[in-house]
Amino acid sequence: MSVKIAFEEVTQVYGDTGKGGGTRALEHFSLEIAERNFVCLLGPSGCGKSTVLNLAAGFEKPSGGSVLIDGKTVTGPGRDRGMVFQEPLLLPWRNVIENVMLGPCLAGWPKVEALAQARHYLRLTGLERFERHASYELSGGMRQRVALARAWIGEPPVLLMDEPFGALDAQTRLVMQELLLEIWEQTRTTVLFVTHDVDEALFLGDRVVVMSASPGRVLLDLAVDLPRPRTEEILTSPRFADAKRRCLRLIGEESRRAFGHLEGDGI
Ligand SMILES: Nc1ncnc2c1ncn2[C@@H]1O[C@H](COP(=O)(O)OP(=O)(O)OP(=O)(O)O)[C@@H](O)[C@H]1O
Ligand SMILES: [Mg+2]
Repeated sequence: MSVKIAFEEVTQVYGDTGKGGGTRALEHFSLEIAERNFVCLLGPSGCGKSTVLNLAAGFEKPSGGSVLIDGKTVTGPGRDRGMVFQEPLLLPWRNVIENVMLGPCLAGWPKVEALAQARHYLRLTGLERFERHASYELSGGMRQRVALARAWIGEPPVLLMDEPFGALDAQTRLVMQELLLEIWEQTRTTVLFVTHDVDEALFLGDRVVVMSASPGRVLLDLAVDLPRPRTEEILTSPRFADAKRRCLRLIGEESRRAFGHLEGDGI
């Protein structure tokens, strides 16, 4: 299968880079994601996960190395990539359905079609009764669901998702995870999904990639060799527990390193 997203030896430095200053967010970050793959990215806070997504989205340019989509260098944002941010970021002067329709309207879809699709995704995300509400009238979890509908509506070939379910309660999160898998299976979009939740990563992903503490690079690239659908039986199997233990151990070490609680390299 062809490579959809590629990061080649990417370095990202923020701030004043003179005399070795600045924040080194990523260093030697390399990752290839095959078309239609679902890859989950885990790592301690501040290790560069959002930076990775911003680079793939084209919101930022790498200080070094290359970021490629379909073999072409990313030069800016595009409609081929849908993004769900860590915060919902809705336009406050637009109501719910207008927020969801934003992309299709900018892309010149006929209004009737944009409206029908927006209603479809609002129904899927459980928000059909709220289409005329302003964003300040919604709860945090509802706002995040509007952001999901907004990203899903155009069925982009690439979905970049930054802890999209972090603000949701456990029940809503499960419904949204199952919905995401359904959408992914139907549209076979390529997904790069950031989460801090190992269970979520192993439930959703074909691969789980664990990043090091800052500056972020790939420490572990684990093929999740569990059949789909991932039933309760699979999620309580020894194979699942083994994969979870490996990820947790590594993230635990890296998080302690990130907070300066590990001295030198001795673990
Ligand atoms: N626009 C920016 N300007 C300056 N520094 C930045 C910028 N964006 C990120 N950074 C820095 O880069 C590093 C990585 O940040 P990033 O947001 O990618 O981490 P993260 O892994 O997404 O963290 P979290 O899990 O807390 O969301 C941090 O040290 C952060 O301070
Ligand atoms: Mg982040």
